[in-house]
Amino acid sequence: MSQFTKKVKDLCSSSNQTSVKPSRGFDLNDAMERFECPPPTYHPTTSQNIRDVFLRAQPISFHVNGTLVTVDTSQVPPTTSLARFLRSHLHLTGTKISCNQAGCGACVVSTSLVDPASGEERHMSVNSCITPVYKCQGWKVKTVEGLGSQHAGFHPIQQRLAELDGTQCGFCSPGMVMMMNGYLEGHPNPTQKDIEGVIDGNICRCTGYRPIFDAFKSFASDAPPELLRKVNDIEDLVSTDGFFPCPKTKQPCQGRCHPNDSRIIQFIQSKEGNEWIKPNNLEDLLALLDDLAPNSSYRLVAGNTGTGIFNDDGPYKSFFDISAIPELVTITLDPFNVGGGVSLTKFIEILEQQASSKGVDYAHGAQMAKHIKKVANTNVRNVGSVGGNLMLKHAHKDFPSDIFALLEAAQAKIGVKSTTGEILMYSPVDWLSVSMDKKILLFINFPKFTSKHRFMSYKITPRSQNAHAYVNGAMSIQINDNYDVVERPVIVMGGISELFFRPANTENLLVGKNLMARSTLDDALATLESEVVPDSNPVLATIQYRTHLAKALLYKFILSVIKDAVDSSLVSGATQIDRGVSRGTVTYDTDPSQYPMQQPIHKLEGQIQCTGEAEYVDDIPASPGELFAAYVLSNVANADVDQVDTTLAMTMPGVVEFVNFEDIPGRNSTNGTGTPEEKLFTDGKVYYAGQAIGLILAETYEQARQAAKAVIVTYINQSKPILDIRDAVDNHKKTNVRAKVPLVVKKRGIQKANDATGPLRSVQGEFEIGSQYHFHMETQSCIVRPIEEGQFEVFSATQHMDGVQKSIAMALGINMNKINVSVRRLGGAYGGKINQPHFIAAACAVAANKVKRSVRLVLDLQTNMALCGKRVPYLFKYNVSVDSENKLQDVTVDVFADVGYNDADEDTDMAKYWLQNCYNSPSWKVNCFDVLTNTPINTYCRAPSSTQGHACSEIMMESVAVALGLDPLEFRLGNLLSPGDPTLQGAPFEGPMALPEIIAALKASCDYDARMAEVSTFNQHNSWKKRGLALIPQRWPQDYGGRKYTCQVAIYTEDGTVAISHGGIEMGQGLNTKTVQVVAATLDVPLDMISVKVSNNFVANSNWVTGGSRGSELVPAAASMACSELVARMKPIADGLGGSPDWLTLIRECDKQGLDLVARHTTVARNDNIKNYDIWGAACVEVEVDVLTGEKNVRRADLVQDTGASISPNIDVGQVEGAFVMALGLWMTEKIKYDPKDGRLLTNDTWEYKPPTSQDIPEVFNTTFYNNGNASKGVLGAKATGEPPFLLGFAAFIAIRNAINAAKEDLQADPTVWYELDAPATNENVQLTTGVTSAHFWV
Ligand SMILES: Cc1cc2nc3c(=O)[nH]c(=O)nc-3n(C[C@H](O)[C@H](O)[C@H](O)COP(=O)(O)OP(=O)(O)OC[C@H]3O[C@@H](n4cnc5c(N)ncnc54)[C@H](O)[C@@H]3O)c2cc1C
Ligand code: FES
Ligand code: FES
Repeated sequence: MSQFTKKVKDLCSSSNQTSVKPSRGFDLNDAMERFECPPPTYHPTTSQNIRDVFLRAQPISFHVNGTLVTVDTSQVPPTTSLARFLRSHLHLTGTKISCNQAGCGACVVSTSLVDPASGEERHMSVNSCITPVYKCQGWKVKTVEGLGSQHAGFHPIQQRLAELDGTQCGFCSPGMVMMMNGYLEGHPNPTQKDIEGVIDGNICRCTGYRPIFDAFKSFASDAPPELLRKVNDIEDLVSTDGFFPCPKTKQPCQGRCHPNDSRIIQFIQSKEGNEWIKPNNLEDLLALLDDLAPNSSYRLVAGNTGTGIFNDDGPYKSFFDISAIPELVTITLDPFNVGGGVSLTKFIEILEQQASSKGVDYAHGAQMAKHIKKVANTNVRNVGSVGGNLMLKHAHKDFPSDIFALLEAAQAKIGVKSTTGEILMYSPVDWLSVSMDKKILLFINFPKFTSKHRFMSYKITPRSQNAHAYVNGAMSIQINDNYDVVERPVIVMGGISELFFRPANTENLLVGKNLMARSTLDDALATLESEVVPDSNPVLATIQYRTHLAKALLYKFILSVIKDAVDSSLVSGATQIDRGVSRGTVTYDTDPSQYPMQQPIHKLEGQIQCTGEAEYVDDIPASPGELFAAYVLSNVANADVDQVDTTLAMTMPGVVEFVNFEDIPGRNSTNGTGTPEEKLFTDGKVYYAGQAIGLILAETYEQARQAAKAVIVTYINQSKPILDIRDAVDNHKKTNVRAKVPLVVKKRGIQKANDATGPLRSVQGEFEIGSQYHFHMETQSCIVRPIEEGQFEVFSATQHMDGVQKSIAMALGINMNKINVSVRRLGGAYGGKINQPHFIAAACAVAANKVKRSVRLVLDLQTNMALCGKRVPYLFKYNVSVDSENKLQDVTVDVFADVGYNDADEDTDMAKYWLQNCYNSPSWKVNCFDVLTNTPINTYCRAPSSTQGHACSEIMMESVAVALGLDPLEFRLGNLLSPGDPTLQGAPFEGPMALPEIIAALKASCDYDARMAEVSTFNQHNSWKKRGLALIPQRWPQDYGGRKYTCQVAIYTEDGTVAISHGGIEMGQGLNTKTVQVVAATLDVPLDMISVKVSNNFVANSNWVTGGSRGSELVPAAASMACSELVARMKPIADGLGGSPDWLTLIRECDKQGLDLVARHTTVARNDNIKNYDIWGAACVEVEVDVLTGEKNVRRADLVQDTGASISPNIDVGQVEGAFVMALGLWMTEKIKYDPKDGRLLTNDTWEYKPPTSQDIPEVFNTTFYNNGNASKGVLGAKATGEPPFLLGFAAFIAIRNAINAAKEDLQADPTVWYELDAPATNENVQLTTGVTSAHFWV
């Protein structure tokens, strides 16, 4: 008899309430189906205890991809997430984990579960990272493996995502697929707009979303015909014969195996001492709560999504899964009551239904529904409940709950049931001060509104979707036909402070007032200002902005009420930014005679990325005895470590070892030359908060993380950290600013710039650009395995195998030939995996060396963000002089780069070369300074330093044009380089200058002149929305330097197939695809005969980092040369076979003659006569800005990118669009914030850090390839595409400036006065820069 059978039998017999059928050969999987427990009876009035009577140890079992799985609850604690369970216990590694907080979508699976009230089965997508596996009891989970695979065939969603090029690094792809699958299973006939709306919780850092939209919109009922032409029919997508066949009956599952109506209450006691209880009705839940000891720590588990925000709440002893309680999900329409357990998705549906069917009674439901669609994301809303949201607000008063604001303004009442059975009703505000201990938020009641009511709500966020509010608000008011306020209105605001919800004085003041009167507005705003006192918190927006937003929202509300009666220019203040369905075009030419070169094929690994079969480091199965490592990080900056106390941590379950600098047998450095260096672990000084102190090693990932948190570190000599470049430059120049060698380039005979009184006119300015986290979806990951003869097998997510190898050798003090590094692929990198994997892999190796076991170190997002450096922030101070012909004469720039706590990765010296961009000046002087701050060593991030240098050049051009009243585009065109002009790179510009042609073509294709006029007209007619249009150029001087990459090509004689391995790293950029195309073309074999092997440091020893857009060129070049060598070797044999034998005949003959069919080539540009060249581009971007709030929408972007003769156009489209959208993040939303007190990174997760989501991309997104600018110079005729298009994103920044200009014009600002706008142009930054305050509001 198994342990489980015995346990259940014991339980049943001890309670004397149940009988167990004799077991025939016990099968755990269907154990629950065979135990029949007659319903016991419980009489609350007797001395019986509910726990004794009903609680039964029952396993957690649920279906995964049609198979019933049972959780071994003795091994798996209740805090284990479904994602972790799928990956670690079922080895279904297609489901990825990235943020672990429901903020990125990497972990999404689809599921179907039975609604306990209606009995209906609902299909949906959920974030498995925050879903406790215990909560999955009775669920039917489908993972990406269950959808399709190479062997079983691809599901249409997988196939379309791959074939429409919606996958690059592939790390987001399984989550994308499952999100769409979950949605389509619940919504078989969505529209394009529906589909765009639901991709709100899945982040893709690579693609720019446009191809993902295309793939998924091909399933829409209104899918555009051109999309449908590209894909197969969708007939079999939504299964009509049952979601999963039952393995026992082979019929669609009826959900009867684990009936929800049983009085038996599922109970699990974990070995850690926690209990998990799943009551089936409200009465039992209340009885169980009543039974808890006073002050027990318990948590009701509804959707459990709250842990995505507040993951430090608890710890809890008892968990009550309340998802099977019908009373909590009951909805009645009249009276309109919504159960506290109703999901936000269902709530939206029901609000829309009420709004459309109940006239004025619930017309406001439409706005509420619209607003709730901006709460969290689809995957969260599918399970996150109304009650759970409100309870988060109850526990954390500063949480800007949108639901709370909406309910208060809708004058809803919250029904709370206590263990006495009493139900009390409260307004949301009053309810906040009611104790909820052992009480249930049972339902919400909505009163009817009348035709006098007006309702509106607002949510101002740093990003368009999946972002909490800076400030949110909901308001309702009753007015008569004369716009007099007839009742006290309800004005609710969140994001202000813990104590502020409603401005009572303002509400009272409005009673009886006429909203059309200017005095009403002025008085209301003044009163509101006196009531709004925002909390000061460095992670939040400034007090100034939040105070302004509070007033702006009230103003917007008043405008929305009176909009039919006010000046038409004000109506733009009443509306919110709304976008239509996005669309776009892609235009390029190819030469079919060159195929497979230039052939628009799809990424080779695309399909296996979409099925989850593509393997990343953390997907590699664990080897026996493998340990998990978790970092202990410092939580202060600029201090010395006093003591590290691991006593508690070492007693925790599963913990094996603590590793720190004392365990390093070699050097505690990643830099062999001494300074500057990155230490593996601190040996005393902590320069920044987040610096590595040590590693905890444990049996499981969770154990390591928990124990790492339990290590107590104390500090001495703590000083105030320097975190900001301006602070360092202004206040710590002597100690923290290091001058570098200036770059001076002068053409003879020029005038020296003086000031405005002389013949030259000079313009000065400053421009600061912030940092950017790489946001590679796969966090830093490494596995190190000690193997025989003192060797180490290393699997590292690195862009630089050689660097990892050197760092480990140095840390362990061993020879490099003992270290075998392999890289299959990276889940995104963008420069973040160039140098940082060095110290991470070396730390992992030190740990593996210490315990002589395999160690896995996969960082959680918070650790990754705190530990690792990000894009280098810059401050530019410039002085530009032009002559009377408006030609640049002298450019002097001071470049300050915030390198972090040392300049190991500095790119200041590179930035100076990029300041010129495409412009000519006879005199340049660039003074460079490294600025030290108490932050991680900042590092390369996609187009490092070129982005900032180019942006500064464009800011200089723009500021001069503005100051001199010139047309900025004409001024730019008038200062382009001509052949022979000096360049900052040294050699004179060779030409040709392609930009006039590119810009003329772009102006024509994007209708530049007409749209300029339209924008101007729009701005004249709208006071509170402004548009801006900007067209900027870009020149990228591609320089290969000494980069070195190897490619080895092997031909197998039996079947003639070809294998290659190279020293580049495939990280989404399509390097493998391009290389295979080149190999196929050079050997003249079909693409499918070529297989790409893992990159490793034996084949490609001492290769360079894959970065700087060079790998995608030089690796194919190496492949081409290796193949040419093979072709040359085989030629005599081919000639002997008549000149053109078929491939297999040739190969077999070569074999017979003993020919070596392996060739390798190591490309170095200078050795292989590969020349540097220029890459050109231009972008025209239009934005719309809400002047009252600073919110923005990118209405349209037209990009022209010089790609030469692209080897692989589909791949390059992805590079161009993806780079552009990542740049939009840098310029518009991604803001890094540190705590000024201790230097902790505050924006260290998806809750606070906001890379672009799908609705942040241009609404109209057109991309065109240009192939006429010295194309012959690119490698194999093609040009690099990974980074140059990143620079084009700056057009959006200038467009925003132009929209701000229009707002300033309305304020009568002098248009020739340049104002500073630092990057990123967050909504806050934009609004405050407009200069518009409540003093400008009018009616
Ligand atoms: C990525 C992300 C983004 C988000 N963005 C927003 C946003 O922009 N705006 C916003 O308003 N919200 C936002 N949220 C919050 C989200 O709406 C809530 O997490 C969700 O509604 C909570 O519901 P749940 O069922 O998952 O609650 P759970 O997480 O299961 O529970 C939360 C708390 O409520 C208690 N509880 C749950 N149900 C009841 C009940 N019926 N009676 C008594 N106590 C109960 C639990 O004990 C627990 O303490 C976001 C969440 C995430 C993860
Ligand atoms: S890992 Fe689950 S949403 Fe990011
Ligand atoms: S393909 Fe989406 S994150 Fe890389």
